Amino acid sequence: MSLQELLAQYTNETYTLPYPFYRDAVVLQEERLKIFSKEWQFVGHVNQVKNPGEFLTCEMAGEPIIVVRGDDDQLRAFYNVCPHRATQLEPQEQGRRKILQCSYHGWTFKLDGRLHQAPNFKDHMDSLCEEDTCLRSIQVETVASLVFVNLDNKAQSLQEAHGDFFEDLTRFSFLDRLKKHSSEKRLIKANWKAYIDNYLECDHCPIAHPAFASTFDMKSYTFVDKQSCIIQQADIKPTAKMGDVELQGVEVKEGRYYWLWPNMIFSISPGSGNIAVTVLTAVDENTTIANYTNYFVDQEPSPEQTENIKFVNQLRLEDIKLVEKAQIGFRSSAFPYGRYSPTEHALRRFHQMIKRALTE
Ligand code: FES
Ligand SMILES: [Fe+2]
Repeated sequence: MSLQELLAQYTNETYTLPYPFYRDAVVLQEERLKIFSKEWQFVGHVNQVKNPGEFLTCEMAGEPIIVVRGDDDQLRAFYNVCPHRATQLEPQEQGRRKILQCSYHGWTFKLDGRLHQAPNFKDHMDSLCEEDTCLRSIQVETVASLVFVNLDNKAQSLQEAHGDFFEDLTRFSFLDRLKKHSSEKRLIKANWKAYIDNYLECDHCPIAHPAFASTFDMKSYTFVDKQSCIIQQADIKPTAKMGDVELQGVEVKEGRYYWLWPNMIFSISPGSGNIAVTVLTAVDENTTIANYTNYFVDQEPSPEQTENIKFVNQLRLEDIKLVEKAQIGFRSSAFPYGRYSPTEHALRRFHQMIKRALTE
């Protein structure tokens, strides 16, 4: 079935996105082209690239990317690819360099992306033009201390694309004080959209997340629909604890969970200032890497932050099991699509956005 035929099948009222969307390589190829190559993607907190030479790397739409602070204090982003013969330039996820060096033939680059030296062209430097030797740049922007990149040079600004998210974040005063505490990558045997589907409904919470349901007042659980994000909000129960640690009197008294189109999750948990970020990278139509990063206001986590890490980790493991089981069903021919429950409206909204993006 062609992509157009598939898209026509989804009328988005009662039934979910058809299951071939979760198992078809052509769909992922189109998503890379029409979604991931055009949208902003979170890469890190500005405190991770505060000093000249500090860098972060990531992947989006199958492209390796590097973000680096120049000697002139400017933050730049490039394809993390050597102009000589394509080798990935910087293999580390984060670090600090005086100069960027390719490990293949030793070309070196200044932090602004211009060639420094090309040893194998030593006496023939004149034969190289700037086009052949500069790193290819892409867009990078920082709002609310959060750094995002975009492959599309014509894309709207980060503020325009996600203004409602940043506006909501102004309720928290700790964003510029956050420091990276830890990060982790997990290989998930499911399509990236299965992970987002799971995040965008909480019908499964009482069944799959007993600790979550006992911490939060599930009657207060709400979904707030914004233009470029969906926010889930829950108040803590008056007697709630994080492990053995009391939550009364902490800076953040709620759970606030943001989904950002298309593949990002920002979770703020009760406690002192914190954000746990998830960015999904599709490896193929059946496999996704979840990149998790935990940020706290203090580098040494307080007792309730340590409990917070365990809490968030447990939720993730519970969700991963569910989405991997869902993927088994997506690959089955038993059913062509699923049914939305009366409360799964955020899920429906996500599916509509997928359809709209792929139809354009
Ligand atoms: S591929 Fe990088 S120096 Fe040759
Ligand atoms: Fe969940």
